[in-house]
Amino acid sequence: MDLFEYQARDLFEKHGVPVLAGAVATTPEEAHAAAAKIGGKVVVKAQVKVGGRGKAGGVKVADNADDAKEKASAILGMDIKGHIVHRVMIAQAAPIAEEYYVSILLDRSNRQYLCMASVAGGMDIEEVARTAPEKLAKVPVSAVAGIDSAKAAAIVAQANFPAEIAADVAKVIELLWGVFTKEDATLVEVNPLVKTADGKIIALDGKVTLDDNAEFRQPDHEALIDKSAANALEEAAKAKGLNYVKLEGEVGIIGNGAGLVMSTLDVVAYAGERFGNVRPANFLDIGGGASAEVMADGLSIILGDKDVKSVFVNVFGGITACDAVANGIVKALEILGSTATKPIVVRLDGNNVAEGRRILNEAAHPLVQQLDTMDGAAARAAELAAK
Ligand SMILES: Nc1ncnc2c1ncn2[C@@H]1O[C@H](COP(=O)(O)OP(=O)(O)OP(=O)(O)O)[C@@H](O)[C@H]1O
Ligand SMILES: [Mg+2]
Repeated sequence: MDLFEYQARDLFEKHGVPVLAGAVATTPEEAHAAAAKIGGKVVVKAQVKVGGRGKAGGVKVADNADDAKEKASAILGMDIKGHIVHRVMIAQAAPIAEEYYVSILLDRSNRQYLCMASVAGGMDIEEVARTAPEKLAKVPVSAVAGIDSAKAAAIVAQANFPAEIAADVAKVIELLWGVFTKEDATLVEVNPLVKTADGKIIALDGKVTLDDNAEFRQPDHEALIDKSAANALEEAAKAKGLNYVKLEGEVGIIGNGAGLVMSTLDVVAYAGERFGNVRPANFLDIGGGASAEVMADGLSIILGDKDVKSVFVNVFGGITACDAVANGIVKALEILGSTATKPIVVRLDGNNVAEGRRILNEAAHPLVQQLDTMDGAAARAAELAAK
């Protein structure tokens, strides 16, 4: 889960990383109140989970609370790279002398953690990384040893931070490592980390990605979920324990096993090119041992998606035999009754396929058609969706 900047700021504060006063606001009036409380000059910052806010006009300095209200009403509702701004953060304005860059992330390809640091931070760090990579220190971090004060000092030295602030920056990097490990993050990025006119080191903008696999031991993270952005279908699927991801197409997909479902998406997208570019409407893996209830749950989620025009059930019987899946489909359609209204193309193969096909043929449900091959079934489902 990616966090908003204001949430990252709060986590930083919790772990002792120096930050500025800041508060979140969803209306110009709240922005006014927050700015009045902070006092003096503030910065109004769009809270969207996408980079480049400053360049898009989503970060504006305000001289006082009235000005903050005005800037907030201009920024709220703005569209930044397809993300609508629903909240702004009101942050105390800092007198910036220098802008630096620091991040800690999970480096999957090298199976280690990585700390990156640069004295050339700020809005153009991507450009620096591309055109002057020598200005961005990349230091591997062992998961076992982590970042202690000696390691932090080595990172700061490698990135050529000036001597007078080296110790303070090293301290911040050590604290960020604390955020990274204690919060089970996969990314902690500070850009810019600033030196203020009076020489203080402060994290001015933070990006944090939390590892959802650690949910079970991070009970506090639940509160950070952005409920307003969650898709209603995905929420309903999650409540039923289904692995469902909403996509943008028209062909509902149910399969067993993540690999099979992924290739089903590809095959449907490919077949769809011949029928006016219809595309898969979702990812749904009902896993092994798909009972009638699980099939019914899956079908009801997919049939509840108004974008879906046809459904493709693609099952390869392994541990779960095809006859059990076929019975599941028949029972699921009984459970759903008249709420099931869209054509369903079924392709069964593998363990006990003959019996599975026989059961579906015998049930002869008016919405269900069977095809023997994955390609053939994908083409039929795409054709039906295009109608
Ligand atoms: N509290 C602040 N006080 C003074 N200047 C600020 C403050 N916050 C941001 N700025 C200035 O605005 C610039 C952009 O802000 P910020 O880094 O938060 O957004 P961004 O980099 O455009 O967004 P993103 O990190 O999402 O790409 C900073 O580099 C800094 O110069
Ligand atoms: Mg930034």
